[in-house]
Amino acid sequence: MTIDKSMMPGSSGPLEASSKKEISFWSNKYVLGLTTTAGIGGLLFGYDTGVISGALLYIRDEFKAVNDNSVLQETIVSMAVVGAMIGAAAGGWVNDAYGRKKATLLADVLFIIGSFVMCIAPDPNILILGRLFVGVGVGIASVTAPVYIAEAAPSEIRGGLVATNVLMITGGQFLSYLVNLSFTEVPGTWRWMLGVAAIPAVVQFILMIFLPESPRWLYMKDKKSKAIAVLENIYDSDRLQEEIDQLADASNKDSQSGKTVSYFDVLKSKEIRLAFFTGAGLQAFQQFTGINTVMYYCPTIVQMAGFSSKQLALLLSLIVAAMNAVGTIIGILLIDKCGRRLLALVSLSGVFASLLILSYAFSLQPKTLGATLGSGAGWLAIVGLVLYIAFFSPGMGPVPWAVNSEIYPEAYRGVCGGMSATVNWISNFIVAQTFLSVVGLVGTRGTFLIFAGVSVLAFLFVLLFVPETKGLTFEQVERIWKERAGVLGMSASGGGQHLQGNEA
Ligand code: BGC
Repeated sequence: MTIDKSMMPGSSGPLEASSKKEISFWSNKYVLGLTTTAGIGGLLFGYDTGVISGALLYIRDEFKAVNDNSVLQETIVSMAVVGAMIGAAAGGWVNDAYGRKKATLLADVLFIIGSFVMCIAPDPNILILGRLFVGVGVGIASVTAPVYIAEAAPSEIRGGLVATNVLMITGGQFLSYLVNLSFTEVPGTWRWMLGVAAIPAVVQFILMIFLPESPRWLYMKDKKSKAIAVLENIYDSDRLQEEIDQLADASNKDSQSGKTVSYFDVLKSKEIRLAFFTGAGLQAFQQFTGINTVMYYCPTIVQMAGFSSKQLALLLSLIVAAMNAVGTIIGILLIDKCGRRLLALVSLSGVFASLLILSYAFSLQPKTLGATLGSGAGWLAIVGLVLYIAFFSPGMGPVPWAVNSEIYPEAYRGVCGGMSATVNWISNFIVAQTFLSVVGLVGTRGTFLIFAGVSVLAFLFVLLFVPETKGLTFEQVERIWKERAGVLGMSASGGGQHLQGNEA
């Protein structure tokens, strides 16, 4: 019996990526400029989620009410994540209805208002309001930037370009730690820490005015000549015709083309449900494997590991954040070569091993209350932490964002991307809110063991459900879901080969 490999989970079916006239990552300055500008959204995402841990120390000094009330502290921290949930959910729809450009501009306005409100906040409630504004901006940016980049990107470098936005996120987190360290002696500390985020938002707002709307969105909304004018900046004439033909073909076949779909439409068709399940699952697993316990609580974990000096704890977190950014660069280099699946699977295997090391190190903790690790075990915990980031950052960091930017059909890209980003933010919220309580309940060792268990489930999820989308056009990816949903049956293979034949 012969096995048709195209039907296996990891296969993209009979579809193969086009191999001719490949554009390299650095060769297209227009797309790189667009990616960097859109990536300012990622920078703000990273900065605004990273800055609060340091700023909070000084907010507590200024507002006695905050210092005395841990619920108020938690609200200040988590309000941005709550805002991001709302922003991601609504931002998906804004993306589809009004376009990627307007969604980005809207996020910038919210970033600017929020940063300003926080900077001048006379009391904790106004500060919380500012965090909410910024959070909604982060949520909208988290959906918009990947989609906008993916839609302008040539398929052979799409993964790397979307991962560049993730580099901006990790870079933003690193920057926020640096700012936290450097503003400690400046009068008004936290006001500056939170207020400076308005600057990149103003820069992005101005640059975006000069950038075009996404060509794919324009085409879907029947603004074909405008779409072609944008594509002309990206492709040479041969390739341009190929891209236009594919767009025309896709919009002829897509009954939803031109319409703005609703959230409920996602549930109506089997292939969209399958795609959403895969995208949202990846987003949930990104969070439930514990990345943000490391990003938000790194100094605490370092102190739990026995390094009581605040300075050392902050320095080690800075190193971890820098490693995260460097690891993302490796992800950018690999994602279009090894593919999304392999990168995620290797990443999860390493994450699993690192979590076991962390768990083992914390099992060496003396049983007395509040005891920290001895120096050997403490260093072992640091090794676990460093390995965790080294494995997470090239794979499970960028892959969920890249996959979500490319697996949905045009009409659903905003709505589905937004819904799965909301899943990411809700999962983020749950993990961040419960980490310390779970440590209290089952111990540090048990907590890392739970994350290790989740990483095994995540590995199986990727193995079974995530298709390889490396180098495929959006139209080819769409065909994968139709095949899986049984909508295309046998003729799909023929169609796929036909497609392949067309492009080879
Ligand atoms: C995640 C964030 C996380 C960051 C860490 C991103 O891909 O979505 O939640 O804080 O990676 O680097």
